[in-house]
Amino acid sequence: MSELYVAKVEELADHERRIVVEGDLEIGVFRVGDGFFAWENNCPHAGGPVCQGRVMNRVNEVLDDEKRAHGYEFVEDDVHIICPWHGYEFNIRSGAHPGEPNTQLRGFPVEVRGGAVYVRI
Ligand code: FES
Repeated sequence: MSELYVAKVEELADHERRIVVEGDLEIGVFRVGDGFFAWENNCPHAGGPVCQGRVMNRVNEVLDDEKRAHGYEFVEDDVHIICPWHGYEFNIRSGAHPGEPNTQLRGFPVEVRGGAVYVRI
């Protein structure tokens, strides 16, 4: 196993990413709060560059007890990456599609050491 330098911690703001490349392997490293998460830039749907998609909080429809809709809200702690090819969404912390938990991004361990972020491959 080897590791790749990603960035200094302060270079990645909350909800930002850095794509690192090693040969044919592309990995998106994301920051959410104080956490860092690394996923292969290869969507399990059809191979799209999922890590280059929009990062945004999950959107929920607000329903009352009768299931009547009252608009939409962003879910504060549920941050998604949205694949730019067909719109599949994945939770950045777990790598899982919210509606199909078995549809999962391939993950890599991330280490923060000496003020810098590294990913192990
Ligand atoms: S390739 Fe990602 S949604 Fe289709």
